[in-house]
Amino acid sequence: MVFKIGLLGLGTVGTGTVEILLDPQGRQPLLQELMLHRVGVRSLDKDRRVELPADLLTTDLNSIVTDPEIDLVVELMGGLEPARSLILQAIRAGKHVVTANKAVISRYSEEIFTAATEQGVYVMVEAAVAGGIPVIQPLKQCLGANRIHRVMGIVNGTTNYILTRMQREGADFAEVLADAQALGYAEADPTADVDGLDAADKIAILAALAFNGRIKLEEVYCEGIRKITATDITYADQLGFVIKLLAIAERDPQATADNDWLCVRVHPTLVAKTHPLATINQVYNAILIEGEPIGQVMFFGPGAGAGPTASAVVSDMLNIVGMLQAQGTGEAQAPVMHPLMSCTHQHYCQLSPLKELMTRFYARLITQDAPGVIGKLGTCFGDHQVSLESIVQIDSHGELAEIVVVTHQVREGNFHQALEEMQHLEVVEQIPGVLRVL
Ligand code: HSE
Repeated sequence: MVFKIGLLGLGTVGTGTVEILLDPQGRQPLLQELMLHRVGVRSLDKDRRVELPADLLTTDLNSIVTDPEIDLVVELMGGLEPARSLILQAIRAGKHVVTANKAVISRYSEEIFTAATEQGVYVMVEAAVAGGIPVIQPLKQCLGANRIHRVMGIVNGTTNYILTRMQREGADFAEVLADAQALGYAEADPTADVDGLDAADKIAILAALAFNGRIKLEEVYCEGIRKITATDITYADQLGFVIKLLAIAERDPQATADNDWLCVRVHPTLVAKTHPLATINQVYNAILIEGEPIGQVMFFGPGAGAGPTASAVVSDMLNIVGMLQAQGTGEAQAPVMHPLMSCTHQHYCQLSPLKELMTRFYARLITQDAPGVIGKLGTCFGDHQVSLESIVQIDSHGELAEIVVVTHQVREGNFHQALEEMQHLEVVEQIPGVLRVL
């Protein structure tokens, strides 16, 4: 039985996907049932790495999503529009959809999955999070027996590459970013990556699956890596940490069935060198999932790139085809959705405000180098219930001292109140580095 594919986009991932489809030998035998029927591109004249018959290509993307012969639409164009509208059109035309588009899924999951449920079609998104790493299906299926407490990871390769090089070379952010752009590791406009937005899209998708509810992306706290300095990396290193951009979704430990809060956030974090996520370097991604009864499980691998992302795309296509074959495709048959492959939740999760987060902090302060300064800082922290694990004067420059503080677990709101008050102390010149500690 042949399943006809309409592919939207023949960029990096689209090309990787076609390469797999054209070379099924030695892979899952079901691949031979996938037939590329139409490929939607922006320009017909562009030179391409894969050779396809000219009549397969079209610039009319609408004709693909409405083509009655096509069973499955694969959206690999990226961006919000027209990708979102084409996905919705394809669903309404009764087509299953595979997409790698994290931006669309994290923002429009409600309308997309509602439409898909109504139409009885599957929308599969394995490639939208962490490229080639299987994490969506594992969360939906293999870990389904667990009560998930926390999902956290390094889900953006560009920022991990930049932080790894800053760590290894003692270089500052701007310098490494410029080099990463020249080498093609960072985009000309690096905003989505370095400001944490790409990671926020991904953790919103993972959180929805882990905690069985929708997530409002605008409620996800997001802080990028632009403010990380070589100095903070060096001090973190001396204290036994590396700095990683972590995306974290966790259930409030005090949560009850009636009062179930999640905290979903992206921020640079000091991670102890002994922690498994501290060892993930360069462009690699990793996701650590903690649940009961499994304990911890970590997924590691390439988070982007043509081959790895296409691996996830094609595995979604195979999953759909496998399910359709198992269920039979008689015309009269009402669609029966596989509950572990479709969206089963409609409600939105409650996200707690970041000020309620309990976390440890690292702070670097520039103060006057005078008697009693550390005492004043300690008093200010104490007045706001911020308990310190360590406070050290690391350096002095003329009349100024550089002081590094690491706190115990404190309420985020209290810590910021203490900092706010401290900024008004005469002895405090500047607080240039504030980071959370895992
Ligand atoms: N820009 C992403 C990253 C890859 O740097 O990891 C695609 O999600």
